[in-house]
Amino acid sequence: MPKLLHIVASPRGADSKSNALAAEFVAAEQARTPNLSVDRLDLWAEDLPAFDGDPAAAKMTFFGVGEMDPAKAEAWETVSRITSRFLEADHIVLGVPMWNGGIPYRLKHYIDIITQPGLLFGFDPEKGYFGLLENKRATVVTTSGVWAPGADPKYGEDFQSNYLEWWLDLIGITDVQTIRYQPTLMNPAPQEHYQEVLQSILSGARQGVPA
Ligand SMILES: Cc1cc2nc3c(=O)[nH]c(=O)nc-3n(C[C@H](O)[C@H](O)[C@H](O)COP(=O)(O)O)c2cc1C
Repeated sequence: MPKLLHIVASPRGADSKSNALAAEFVAAEQARTPNLSVDRLDLWAEDLPAFDGDPAAAKMTFFGVGEMDPAKAEAWETVSRITSRFLEADHIVLGVPMWNGGIPYRLKHYIDIITQPGLLFGFDPEKGYFGLLENKRATVVTTSGVWAPGADPKYGEDFQSNYLEWWLDLIGITDVQTIRYQPTLMNPAPQEHYQEVLQSILSGARQGVPA
């Protein structure tokens, strides 16, 4: 049974456009794939443990810094448990608003927890970083109030989709579809634009990736 993990990165609940469009995408996927199993991960409802001294030190042992001890091993156990939920999915769907040019801190927190050597990526001094995930795909639904593709730099920069596409590639997910509803606020026809994006989702059109 194929598994989809729907990651909710906006805290704005029913008001959130990235939540709404990502949910529409997931529903469309369910309609297309009736045996699809969907796991919804709301990062604002989830009790994410601090990624502080012990988990950071546990990660660094894989780079030859320090030794694994009971405290680090316990932290690693927690990290592995949270990461296993991500690893189970064949398809990752992220609904992500732009916050200060980048992504909301809860999503960065989650990424910092799960992006671990031996689990999501490997490293070799010659090869550099390489992803460990295979045969997975991702769909990223992005919103931003002001920034849009091609916007004048005075309206900001995109450290949101660029960062997420870089991170997904780092961990081995190269089949990435980015669905944009941007801008949401500085938009002369926000409702019409929303409906266009929604229609492209419902018709199964793949934006942002070559056919
Ligand atoms: C904390 C915060 C920071 C934001 N930073 C930006 C930004 O840098 N650029 C931008 O265009 N919009 C920014 N916005 C606006 C949101 O990206 C925009 O309202 C978006 O539609 C929210 O998505 P949502 O409806 O899924 O929550 C910010 C909003 C908040 C709450």
